[in-house]
Amino acid sequence: MLFLQIPLLAVLLAAVDNEDAFQEEISFKIIQSISFYNRSWVKSQNSAWLGDLKTHGWDNNSGRIIFLRPWSKGNLSKKELKELEEYSHKFSTEMPNKFHRHANQWQLKYPFEIQITRGCELHPGGPTVAFYRYAYQGSEVMHFQNNSWLPSPKGGTRAQDMCKLYNQYVVITNIVQRILSDTCPRFLLSILDAGKADLQRQVKPEAWLSTGPNPGPDRQMLVCHVSGFHPKPIWVKWMRGEQVQQGTQQSDILPNADGTWYLQVFLEVEATETSGLYCRVRHSSLGGQDILLYLEHHRNSVSLIILAVMVPLVLLTALAFWLRKRWSHCEPPANLLPLK
Ligand SMILES: *[C@@H]1O[C@H](CO)[C@@H](O)[C@H](O)[C@H]1NC(C)=O
Ligand SMILES: *[C@@H]1O[C@H](CO)[C@@H](O)[C@H](O)[C@H]1NC(C)=O
Ligand SMILES: *[C@@H]1O[C@H](CO)[C@@H](O)[C@H](O)[C@H]1NC(C)=O
Ligand SMILES: *[C@@H]1O[C@H](CO)[C@@H](O)[C@H](O)[C@H]1NC(C)=O
Repeated sequence: MLFLQIPLLAVLLAAVDNEDAFQEEISFKIIQSISFYNRSWVKSQNSAWLGDLKTHGWDNNSGRIIFLRPWSKGNLSKKELKELEEYSHKFSTEMPNKFHRHANQWQLKYPFEIQITRGCELHPGGPTVAFYRYAYQGSEVMHFQNNSWLPSPKGGTRAQDMCKLYNQYVVITNIVQRILSDTCPRFLLSILDAGKADLQRQVKPEAWLSTGPNPGPDRQMLVCHVSGFHPKPIWVKWMRGEQVQQGTQQSDILPNADGTWYLQVFLEVEATETSGLYCRVRHSSLGGQDILLYLEHHRNSVSLIILAVMVPLVLLTALAFWLRKRWSHCEPPANLLPLK
C-alpha cells in the first residue's frame, strides 16, 4: 500500500508535559530521497532531523532505524520501535513500486528523484505547524493540508493526478492528519526533553582573523573566522568604535564534525582605511563577554611572524656567503681531492 508510508511517527506515542525545553521554533522532520535510475533500479535514503541536528538514520539492508543520539528514541518503547521499523521497511520497499507502476500516467521520466519531507514545527507559545510534502526532480508537486493532498501550483497535471489517487484513501488521510497534528508534536517534545543537555550545551567559540584574496587594487578583504560554538545562533560583525561596518557580509553557518558550528564574516575595505577595525563576536556561551579581535594586533603578530622568519633567513644567507668566500680562498683539504 502506498500509504504505508505513514510517517515513522506512526507509533511514536510519547507523553510529555514539559514544554519549557525550548525558546525558539524548532522542527522535527523525516526526509526520504528516492532515486529511480530505471524500472528496476532504485536507491533510497532516509534520515530524521531535529532542527539542524541529524537524529536518526536508516539502514536499508537490515531494515533498521539507526539512532544517532543516545536520546533519539525519546519515549519509544521496544514494541513501538519494532512496529516503527516494520512500517518503515514496508514503506521503503513498496513505495518505489507504486511510482514505477504510475510512471507513465504521471509522466515520470527516468532517471528521476522523489523527495518526501514530513514533520512538525513547534512555535513557542504558538501553534504547531505540520507539513508533509512530495517533490519531483527538486520541485514540490503536492502537500498535505486540512486532511487532504493539494497539488502545487507549478505541479501541472502530474500533481493533480497524484493528489487524486492519494485522496482516495480517506482512512489513511485521517490517520496522517492525526499523526501530523498530534503524535509528531508529542514526539518532538519528548526528544527535546530527553536531549536537553545535548541541545542546550554551551560551547565557546574560537575566533581568528585572516585576509582573503585581494578584491581589487588598493582594496583588502578582511576575514573573521569563528568556530566551535554551540548553539547555532551567533552575532559576528566587523566594527570600528561602536559602529557596525555596513559592508559586513556573512557566510552560511556550517556544521563541524563534532556538532559545533563554523562561520566566516567578511569586510571589503580600502587598504588605507583599516585602522581601528575589529571583529566582534557575541554568543550565549560567552556570558556577555564579547570576543574582540583587533586588526592592528593581527597585523602586528603577522609582522612579528614575518620578522621571526626573515631575520634568521637573512643571517643564514649572510653566513653562507661568508663561508663560500672563505672556502674559495682556502686550499681544499687533501683528503677531499678527487682520486685519480
Ligand atoms: C516521556 O518522557 C518525558 C520526558 O523525558 C517523561 O517526563 C515522561 O514521563 C515520559 N512518558 C512516558 C510514557 O514514558
Ligand atoms: C538499471 O540501472 C542499473 C545501474 O545503472 C544497471 O546496472 C541496470 O542494468 C539497469 N537496468 C535496466 C533494465 O536498464
Ligand atoms: C532496500 O533493501 C532491500 C533488501 O534488503 C532491497 O530489496 C530494496 O530494493 C532496497 N530498497 C531501496 C529503496 O533501496
Ligand atoms: C482548513 O480547514 C479549516 C476548518 O476546518 C478552515 O477554517 C481553513 O480555512 C482551511 N484552510 C485551508 C487552507 O483550506
